[in-house]
Order: sequence, then C-alpha cells, then structure tokens
Amino acid sequence: MKTTQLFLEQELPIAAKLVKQGELIAFPTETVYGLGANALDEIAVKEVYEAKGRPSDNPLIIHVETVEQIKKYVSNFPFIAEKLAKHFWPGPLTMIFNIKPGTFPEVVTGGLTTAAFRIPNNRLTLELIHQAGVPLVGPSANTSGKPSPTTAEHVYHDLQGKIAGVLDGGATQIGIESTVLDLTTEVPTILRPGLITKQELKVIIGKVAVDQHLLNEKEQPKAPGMKYKHYSPDTAVWIISMPTDWEKAIHLAKERRLKIGLFADEKIVDTYRSQITATFSFGEDTAINAAKYLFAGLRELDQMAVDVIFAQGFAERSMALAYMNRLKKAAGQKVFSNQTFYSE
Ligand code: TXA
Ligand code: MG
Repeated sequence: MKTTQLFLEQELPIAAKLVKQGELIAFPTETVYGLGANALDEIAVKEVYEAKGRPSDNPLIIHVETVEQIKKYVSNFPFIAEKLAKHFWPGPLTMIFNIKPGTFPEVVTGGLTTAAFRIPNNRLTLELIHQAGVPLVGPSANTSGKPSPTTAEHVYHDLQGKIAGVLDGGATQIGIESTVLDLTTEVPTILRPGLITKQELKVIIGKVAVDQHLLNEKEQPKAPGMKYKHYSPDTAVWIISMPTDWEKAIHLAKERRLKIGLFADEKIVDTYRSQITATFSFGEDTAINAAKYLFAGLRELDQMAVDVIFAQGFAERSMALAYMNRLKKAAGQKVFSNQTFYSE
C-alpha cells in the first residue's frame, strides 16, 4: 500500500517531481479528475491500468500543454485540427490523430496506430504538465466501471493506497468527460458526446459524423471504452424520462417497499422530499446542471441506505445527449416511462 498524499497548489512542484519519477498523480481538469502518469513511461502507464482495474485494450487520452507538443508525435496535424484547437483548446475536446510509429509505449494506445490528445482547461494541471516536462496520460481517476470523479475526495475514495497523490483543484466545472472527435476518418466522427456538441463542431469545420454506437447502443462502438460498463453506482439506477412519471414511479417503488434516492432538479426534489429517503438536487432544471452534478450525485446517493436511485432524464438534444449518454450507462438502460418500468 502506498500513502496517497493530497497536494495543494503550493505543493505542485513536489507532485511534478513525483510524475517525473514514474509515480501516479491524479489531477483536476474542467471535466473530471484524471489519473496522471508520464505517457512515455511504460511501467507507470501499466500501473495506471492496474490502479483503475481498467481493461488493457482501452486506450488513454494524452494530456499536453501546447499544440506544438502534439505535432512531435502525430504523422499529420490537419488544418481542421488547427481550427478546432484555436477555438476549443484549452477545453473539453479530445482529438484523435494517426501517430508516428513507436512514439508511445503500446499500453498507451492499446496497440492502435492512432492516439487521443487533449489540452485541458485547468491552470494547475497545465502547470503540472509544464513542470513535469512530459505528456501525461489521464483516464478518469475512478475505479473502472464506477462514476467518474469530480472532486479530489472522489479520487481519494477510489484510489487511496494505490497512487502517490492527488492534486486538489476543487470541484470540476463541467462534470462529464470531454467530447472525443476522431480526425482519422474521412468525415470527422464524434466517438463520445460531451459539452461541445456536433452543432458547435460543424460551425467550425463543416461536416461532422456521429459514431453508429451513439445512435444505436447495439452497434459496436469505435472508442473501445464505450463498450464497457460505466459510471455505475452499486445501487440500481432508473431514469425517470417524463416529468409526469415521478409520482407514479415513487408510488410503485413504495408499494414494493423500496427506499428511494432522488437525483433531480430543485423543484422535483422539493415536491417529493417528504416521501423519500434521500435526495440530491442539481439546482435549476437544465441538462448543464444535471451533467455537472451527475457523478457527485450518484456517488453521494450510493452512500445512503437506499435501494434504488431515480434520476431525471432530459430530451436527447444538444449537450443533453452527452448527459443522457452517461446516465443511460449508469442506469444500464433502465427507464421508467409512460407509467411503467422497462429496460431498453
Ligand atoms: O474529459 C476527459 O476526457 C477526461 C479528463 C481526465 O481529461 N478523461 C477521460 O479519459 O475521460 P478516459 O480514459 O476515461 O476516456 C477515454 C476515452 C475512452 O472511451 C477510450 O476508449 C477513447 O477515449 N480513446 C482513447 N484513445 C482512443 C483512440 N486512439 N481511438 C479511439 N478511442 C480512443
Ligand atoms: Mg473514464
């Protein structure tokens, strides 16, 4: 067992030094916390997979400070990437490029000839990358399969004893992971939806496609990570898809003597608070708010003595698509709609 230290801003140089020595340091980003290690250090990267319990065929995102760093590793940095980088970086967009052979240890890319890159929008983490002087891998810093971490405490809960430290940058702003865009296909293709939507990408680069898996869950996803069980608390999660369904769903669950946890907007929480065991309000009724607090809410309700979590669904358009993508995985596609429970 390692001792996992919590680093504040003034201790950042210690964290950077540990990264250089091959240790694992979790870092804050604007999306979720990442589990950092030197992307050029094969042993350190292997330890990242071990600490998370992550399947080895699921490649990692490489976090860098500048576009120039990326150009060293990729075989081609297309003009549309320049445009996207100007517009969205640092920020919640990951771009996939063909890489020069032998640039990263095979464990980083899962043996693929492509790699995913991102410049995160977090001052502390950009400084950590700068001081470490190397690109950092950064999968979400949670135990594989569990909700992603949006605070240093979440990271500590999952990985305490397995990593050298966590750089604490407070709660993350966006709450769900970056949009993953594959630039190696003829038409740039979204492999994972995020806060940056297809519409926003189209404004900058024209044509954008969406991976078939995002349209039909039964299709094989192109991002290896999308096929795995994800974001699931131990407690069962059901999506309440219509505002008119709460009443009936709560009634049926109570009939079955189930203790309920609610993840919903403030109005819904206020309406039903007195009838149920635990609540987590994400505030005003927007998908942006719901996304920001989804993982924190699922983690908190999972700690309470509840048998089932009811989580609020949103119509799948714009960035709500990204929220629903995470929530459906967390729920294992279980939905309460039109007055009945069913699995999609
Ligand atoms: O917001 C984020 O992207 C966070 C923060 C920490 O930066 N990171 C993150 O990493 O979500 P991770 O490892 O949890 O998710 C990476 C996703 C996985 O679905 C993986 O399969 C996909 O990106 N991916 C990585 N490299 C790829 C590649 N070369 N081709 C296709 N998919 C790739
Ligand atoms: Mg993840």
